[in-house]
Amino acid sequence: MTATSNSINNGRLHRDAPIGVFDSGVGGLTVVREIMRQIPNEKIIYFGDTARVPYGSKSRETVTRFSRQIVRFLETFQVKTIVVACNTASAYALDILEQTSDIPMIGVVKPGARMAAEVTKNGRIGVIATEATIGSQIYAEYIRKLNKNVAIYGKACPLFVPLVEEGLLEDPVTDEIARRYLTELIDIDIDTLILGCTHYPLIRSTLGRIMGSGVTLVNPAYETARELRGMLERTGMLNEEPPRLGGNRYQFYVSDKADKFVTFANSIIKYGILSAKTIPIEQY
Ligand code: DGL
Repeated sequence: MTATSNSINNGRLHRDAPIGVFDSGVGGLTVVREIMRQIPNEKIIYFGDTARVPYGSKSRETVTRFSRQIVRFLETFQVKTIVVACNTASAYALDILEQTSDIPMIGVVKPGARMAAEVTKNGRIGVIATEATIGSQIYAEYIRKLNKNVAIYGKACPLFVPLVEEGLLEDPVTDEIARRYLTELIDIDIDTLILGCTHYPLIRSTLGRIMGSGVTLVNPAYETARELRGMLERTGMLNEEPPRLGGNRYQFYVSDKADKFVTFANSIIKYGILSAKTIPIEQY
């Protein structure tokens, strides 16, 4: 997270400006849902890269290029901060995004890592995420900075994202695949499991049931919204007044079909999303 004083104070960023949030698809909506709950006065511009999902099996270069295009798109709205609501993009691209934009940014990895380091009692933490996030070792790196005495076990779960994107949130197929992925983490006796992909909170009840009540599930979406609030408060950028009615409080953009996204978004965000717009993101 970088809230540089020059970017806050040079007058270009305004308290009542929207917050930009992006993900490879619908997963970032779990972060949007938390922002809506925890800081309800904020306006949000969401972008889901539904034409190019998944990011988790792509290279660092590709994910970085996609993320930079999205940041340029969000910059056109004069957003006051950008939430990289995708663990894969946070792992691969956040550093470079911060270096190439003067808009303050927050990713989802650090907040989740911090919470896991705090809640573990037996020092055995599991991380489930995309192949990219697990391969980057980013969670292990952050957690060890906070607590050297923990063991971290990563498990890539590549089938979860397509299952979620297909809406199979409560389904025997999801159940079976989750069992296969999680068995080894159960055997290792972890007491904390980080849902290291923003899609995964959408299958939280399945994951919780399989892991059992002795394992605390850490949802980085919740922690990220909490840190975002703190960051906006510290920099005097928290919107204290509710936005005016009709002020397009929440706007949703995607790179593929909008109707499918709207149906899905309405099933998890109870606000009532009326529309989403498809934009040619590769032109940014
Ligand atoms: N939701 C994303 C994440 O948090 C990416 C999933 C994907 O596109 O593979 O990693």
